[in-house]
Amino acid sequence: MPGRINHLTILPFEGHTIGAEVRGLDFSNPIPDAVSDELLAALHKHGVLVARATNVTDDTMIALGSKWGPLDNIKAHKKAGRAFRLAADEIFDVSNIDADDRIITEEDELRTSSKRGNTLWHADGAYNPRRSGVSIIRAVELPPKGLGGETEFLDSRTAYEDLPEAKKAEIQNYVGMNTLLWNRKQANPDMPAFANIDCTQVPLAKHRIAQIHEPTGRGNLYVGSYNHHIEGLPVEEGRRITDELMAHVTQEKYKLAVHYEHVGDVVFWDNTAVLHRATVGAYDGKYRRDMRRISTFDGSRWAYGENDPANSEQVGLK
Ligand SMILES: [Fe+2]
Repeated sequence: MPGRINHLTILPFEGHTIGAEVRGLDFSNPIPDAVSDELLAALHKHGVLVARATNVTDDTMIALGSKWGPLDNIKAHKKAGRAFRLAADEIFDVSNIDADDRIITEEDELRTSSKRGNTLWHADGAYNPRRSGVSIIRAVELPPKGLGGETEFLDSRTAYEDLPEAKKAEIQNYVGMNTLLWNRKQANPDMPAFANIDCTQVPLAKHRIAQIHEPTGRGNLYVGSYNHHIEGLPVEEGRRITDELMAHVTQEKYKLAVHYEHVGDVVFWDNTAVLHRATVGAYDGKYRRDMRRISTFDGSRWAYGENDPANSEQVGLK
């Protein structure tokens, strides 16, 4: 029997400036280019897309993501010595399950530290010379409902557009200096592994703070917890400016929370148009929650920021 043909319906979330539900997406059959093109166009417009119970697998998620660009991978983290549960190098394991298939507890300091890091606002891959474009996450195993674990998003394009013109002019040429270690240090202030790191003395990825979202031509505020300081400014002055911008973009009116309801739920976001963070719920430490993400490398002219494409090795952390 021939499979069902994907016919998408895009329903923007009411009361929000970002996000839409996608109905009609089914990964049981190959997704035609016309459908993946429509999906990508909707993602560029809305920043976040949510599709429920899609019958997705690792392979079909990777097949779709690969249509939108080369995929980022975990090789640099493997090289740094991190143990992985899943075989595919394209899959970022954002579950609460360790390489031995046990629920992660506080005793696993490194995994706990990266989990905490992910609860701070960020754009995936902003700490890399070549940043991420689209991220896709799928729910493989979920804890009982009502125990938390939603992903939160911020509309960093509307936030940029709402800035006073004088502020836009002030930040126009600022280059953010990004490192994964700064995120980990902020999230884990008591962990000796991060406490003594001087984030001005580690390799930093340079990405402008005021950007154009190429597919729509809209402005975008590219800030977050990887951004340690601003190039050419005293660290404290840069911090004051980025703290002020973070206070602006994190206002409730720019925020969207996405709940995972069914196995097979898939959430897409455009890292060059929205910021996001994970939240940890009451399930943590008690119930398994298996979530898997892939990300494309950004293909826009902003992809490498102010970094040298010839010297752009991805950052790995154990
Ligand atoms: Fe993330």
